[in-house]
Amino acid sequence: MIYLDNSATTFPKPLPVREAMQQALREFGANPGRSGYGMSMRTTQALYDCRRTAADFFGASGPECVVFQPSCTQSLNLVLKGSLRSGDHVVVSDLEHNAVMRPLTVMADKGISYTVAETFPGDNDATLNSFRKAMQPNTKLVVCTHASNVFGIRLPVERIAALTHQYGAKICVDCAQTAGLVPISVTAGGIDYLCVAGHKGLYGPMGTGLLILRNPQDRLATLTEGGTGTQSRSLLQPDDPPERYEPGTQNVPGILGLRAGIEFVKRKGQQNIFRSEMKKIEYLYDRLAAISQVELYTMPPREPFFVPVLSFNIKGETSENVGEYLAQNGIAVRCGLHCAPLAHEKMGTEEGTVRVSPSVFTRREEIDLLLSRIRGYRLGKNGR
Ligand code: ALA
Repeated sequence: MIYLDNSATTFPKPLPVREAMQQALREFGANPGRSGYGMSMRTTQALYDCRRTAADFFGASGPECVVFQPSCTQSLNLVLKGSLRSGDHVVVSDLEHNAVMRPLTVMADKGISYTVAETFPGDNDATLNSFRKAMQPNTKLVVCTHASNVFGIRLPVERIAALTHQYGAKICVDCAQTAGLVPISVTAGGIDYLCVAGHKGLYGPMGTGLLILRNPQDRLATLTEGGTGTQSRSLLQPDDPPERYEPGTQNVPGILGLRAGIEFVKRKGQQNIFRSEMKKIEYLYDRLAAISQVELYTMPPREPFFVPVLSFNIKGETSENVGEYLAQNGIAVRCGLHCAPLAHEKMGTEEGTVRVSPSVFTRREEIDLLLSRIRGYRLGKNGR
């Protein structure tokens, strides 16, 4: 199989990730932070090492700023539901994923409103201006994807963060598509809440995510309460992060796999991974642009305005039919709406697109094979 669905989840996982998970099951099999015997202490230490690695990777002031979560979606829900109250207003970009839009829709019933700021690919000044216009006196939070999971459009989140702070609000960045590809620092970038998927560009396993806090004094209301192994006499959830947001037994194999994934990315170098994937996407875009039956939706994807994710369609055909045809030819891509209806509405692709997303393991020959299959597509014959 030629796997080009790495924006959904990277595959394959690097060998050190798989080994770390196996090692976790063999050697770190006791409940962390709960007991004083050897294996429990070693497991606690292993989790702490992952926190330190992640804190360093995302420029956090300390390991206590790293909150383990089961997904980026969960991190986003924690920030939204934990920080907003009735009467608050939120600004979001027009590229947000349903992980942001669905919680906000539910929260409308609780008196929380939002404004969608238009983004302008290739013109960061215009994008910034549009965020500025959307700010209101009661704006408490700006939620902004670092890059679209459908079109790869990248947003100037550090500039948006500076603007947000001028208005006395906080910013939450969804870096599901960029963690491991585009360096980001919560401290230097002024990102109050950074939501991270562990299983994409960090090459960790599914079921892992992170919330990175810029300020460890920040207190979000909790979504879940329970045992933390600390302050057990109290019936109240502990105040301090990360325990405050991590009740219940942790996903130790997942977290240790995630740490190995971050180390893998560090060894390869984020910039090297980014460059190698971008080259493949630029190559693909240029060749797709020369195929008359292919429709593209963005300008040529170039730094610093894009990350390596590309959407296209075959004119007169549904993305699902094209996806099915590619699957029959051993090529895995994601079709349809990619859980991001706002982004499709913006780009006029409400019926969906075919999305191609490479990883560090993708080879040029695989892109060539995809291209040859697309060139061989015959309307109405290859589809359902
Ligand atoms: N959000 C993931 C995607 O873009 C699953 O495919």
